[in-house]
Amino acid sequence: MRFINQLDITGKKILIRVDFNVPLDGETITDDNRIKAGVPTIKYALDKGAAVIVMAHLGKPKGEKVAKFSLGPVAKRLGEYLGLEVVLAPDCVGPEVEKMAAALKPGQVLMLENLRFHPEEEGKTPEDRGDFGAKLASLADIYVNDAFGVAHRPNASVVDVPYSAKQCCAGFLLKLEWENLGEALKAPKKPYIAISGGAKVSSKLGILNNLIGKVDHFIIGGAMANTFLLAQGKSVGKSLVEESLVDTAREIITKAAASGTDLHLPEDFVWGVNTDEASGICTGDNVPEDGMLLDIGPVTVQKFCDVISEAQTIVWNGPMGLFEKPAFADGSMKVCKAMAESDGITIVGGGDTDAVVHKAGLQDDFTFISTGGGSFLEFLEGKELPAFKALKENLDK
Ligand code: 3PG
Repeated sequence: MRFINQLDITGKKILIRVDFNVPLDGETITDDNRIKAGVPTIKYALDKGAAVIVMAHLGKPKGEKVAKFSLGPVAKRLGEYLGLEVVLAPDCVGPEVEKMAAALKPGQVLMLENLRFHPEEEGKTPEDRGDFGAKLASLADIYVNDAFGVAHRPNASVVDVPYSAKQCCAGFLLKLEWENLGEALKAPKKPYIAISGGAKVSSKLGILNNLIGKVDHFIIGGAMANTFLLAQGKSVGKSLVEESLVDTAREIITKAAASGTDLHLPEDFVWGVNTDEASGICTGDNVPEDGMLLDIGPVTVQKFCDVISEAQTIVWNGPMGLFEKPAFADGSMKVCKAMAESDGITIVGGGDTDAVVHKAGLQDDFTFISTGGGSFLEFLEGKELPAFKALKENLDK
């Protein structure tokens, strides 16, 4: 991999792909962590005397110009962090944008309007994407990818621009993710444990298949544990469950036993008949018929925390219960705290898990919090992400 500090960028025009896909309430940004995370690369380029063009997507406008997905509020917030005006172009390609990019001076920042206003950005095949990537690349001298959150998407701004750009490299955020996820997990210190939660086994099958056999312990919580409960012949009342995956869950239990990974499933639960208040604690053998399992119970919390306290490398994705509701947040909070107190390497990723850590106020006590959601999952699945592949194939220019 080549990084921005290895190129001479002084006096050059730099096109930086960032992931500023932040949550918005109307025009108000409710969480700007992704913008903050993108600032160091932009600042570095400006300090080195480059002119910076920033490109990003927001939401899912599906190839249409949709006002509520304009990057206006994002450009404003970025300007506040940089302490200068970030001009928002009316589009991301076309004659007017080309004129604005050509006129940009060292030390100035231009933000292109939402890439996904053009259907080519998300085109499935190279033909669908056409020359959109080449048009973007022509705006600058150097392409920098600093968008880990979208590294798993074969979008034109991720996988095509590097082939048309005169030069390309990764930014500092991509470097951080690369080092913390790639390098740390290549030769993890042991005991190495993975913790997975959230609603669905189906979205975690790739991780389970890749990590079982590699990790010493695999902890499963959240609603995805319910499917494993059924596989063990227990009942789950009215809980969320993926019945079609019960056989798969059984296979995973067998695979773990055969491959030396200790699989830890919840033994007790906090249950409720609605999602606002807890009705009590039950075990997998006495789940009330009208009850939903909404958090892990105290015995399970203790067991999971004991395993965490022994670990040297811990990777976590997915909450242990319905943490958004105070009655069912305890399991996620305690697992989070146990990780924060660990002396080992602690890595977290995915929107909900990140939210748990911030809710607990423990974000400074983790080794690394990834900015990726889907890209973090695909990384843990052991896949080569398209963004890295495209950069690596174009490092000789
Ligand atoms: C994310 O929010 O995970 C990334 O920005 C990717 O967004 P997408 O899922 O809409 O492609």
